[in-house]
Amino acid sequence: MKIRAAVLEEFGAPLEIQELELAEPKAGEVLVRLVACGVCHTDLYTASGADPSGYSPTVLGHEGAGVVERIGDGVTDVELGDHVVTLFSPQCRECEHCRDHRTNLCLAIREQQNQGQLPDGTTRLSRAGEPIRHFMGTSTFAEYTVMPEIALAKVDPEAPLDRACLFACGLSTGLGAAMNTAKVAPGTTCAVFGAGMVGLGAVAGCRLQGAERIVCVDLSEDRLELARGQGATDTLVGGPDAVQQIVDLTDGFGADYTFEATGNVNVMRQAVESARMGWGLATMCGVAGKGETLDVIPRFLITGRRVAGSSFGGVKGRDQVPQFVDMYLAGDIDVDAFVSHKLKLDEVNRGFELMEARDGIRSVIDFA
Ligand code: CU
Ligand code: ZN
Repeated sequence: MKIRAAVLEEFGAPLEIQELELAEPKAGEVLVRLVACGVCHTDLYTASGADPSGYSPTVLGHEGAGVVERIGDGVTDVELGDHVVTLFSPQCRECEHCRDHRTNLCLAIREQQNQGQLPDGTTRLSRAGEPIRHFMGTSTFAEYTVMPEIALAKVDPEAPLDRACLFACGLSTGLGAAMNTAKVAPGTTCAVFGAGMVGLGAVAGCRLQGAERIVCVDLSEDRLELARGQGATDTLVGGPDAVQQIVDLTDGFGADYTFEATGNVNVMRQAVESARMGWGLATMCGVAGKGETLDVIPRFLITGRRVAGSSFGGVKGRDQVPQFVDMYLAGDIDVDAFVSHKLKLDEVNRGFELMEARDGIRSVIDFA
């Protein structure tokens, strides 16, 4: 079928809206009609050329939500008409990692996904006979996409898809960091560095876990206001003295749990140093630049602090994304506050401009 999609043709240049050919889903695959898709930093990171593993031409986009239109042979978990959220982090439920509660890093299709291929090593996207590679296994800046069944989370059809799509990436990453990786205990103190989508999700996750005190640090007063809306009890404008300020706010010891959601290695260091002596856990959610390293003074570790890394919040997507969507429908997570702009597919580059201007939290493409 012919589809319209936003194609990354040349790094650093605007995406081009083009007509492409999308083949039918093969065995284990699903054709999804996109209804909404968030514009995320990772898309921009690749489009800019900064991502060393990036390739072109490809169709970007990974924060998608839509409706199942056709299924390939052997697909059992979704059927026509189901509402789904796309998962760049799949869950096959069979590999060694999927069967272990300690990680969400499914091993089933990593290799092919990194190459821009579907699990059988080919692509469904093409242009005049030339294969076009998929991006993050999702390629959701498009009217339709074909994805493996193991990379789709079936969600309650009551949930508006322009809200549900945010659970495809940043929001679940933050929620999961607090709920899965750190397993924040009730009555504790937390500090979250960065109040973008991931950090705000972490604030919400800490609140849902029953944290007593949640300090959020960011450079933008507007974002700190949003953090208060998600449950932050204290907010700080970031800077060199952020560690001292957090220590002062937490009885002189630091926070039981800290979260880093900026990708800046200096901020990561602050997250380690503001974790409490004895048992403080610093969880790293941000993606640092290639070649950057995190500087940790060993004394901080000897005295009982721990550092954890969290990818997609440790979320096993097919299981937990539907649960998060249910929590949103129950009124426990305020997703509306994150959707700052609605765009059409043709305006996708405007989504990047808004992000670079730090205008709002998320632009959502509306395919209707
Ligand atoms: Cu993302
Ligand atoms: Zn797996």
